[in-house]
Amino acid sequence: MLDDFRIGHGIDVHRFAKERIKEKPLRLAGITLSENYSLVAHSDGDVILHAICDAILGACAEGDIGEYFSDTDQEYSGIDSTILLSKVLEVANAKKLKISNIDITLLAQVPKISPYRNEMIENLCGLLDLNSNYVNLKATTTERLGYIGREEGIACHCVVLMSSNG
Ligand code: CDP
Ligand code: ZN
Repeated sequence: MLDDFRIGHGIDVHRFAKERIKEKPLRLAGITLSENYSLVAHSDGDVILHAICDAILGACAEGDIGEYFSDTDQEYSGIDSTILLSKVLEVANAKKLKISNIDITLLAQVPKISPYRNEMIENLCGLLDLNSNYVNLKATTTERLGYIGREEGIACHCVVLMSSNG
């Protein structure tokens, strides 16, 4: 039987807090960055993991993370987004869908993520159970244009290909 291929796309945006919040260090791709920023969010604000979750749910035709994890639910207050991702992977698993490859683009004027990129990819490979040949993480500034360029917030886009041979 031919593989059943599904493409999914996810976007997430978070605003920077006016000042760094001690209890909310910047978390991206499941790692904590030693940077002087915090993101405003009900969860830990990990835009990369949230965009990945939405891309996976998109490929599974399962809506978005807001439908699974309400941002008014106390249970998810400050939650580590790796927990959200593992629940989304369970949804995909129940549909027998596996990630073939994933491509992620962070849009951020600040901080520069190149010093963290390898660690982030390694962490994503572990979380997604993928070889690094199938995981791409890149970043771009917006050349100081718009809300990202004004350092008001950051965004992440993600595209994922999933397949099932069952
Ligand atoms: O036009 P291009 O995206 O190449 O230029 P840029 O936005 O100035 O980004 C230059 C390089 O910096 C990119 O290739 C990214 O790898 C890196 N970068 C980063 O590490 N962290 C960011 N927040 C933005 C860009
Ligand atoms: Zn988010």
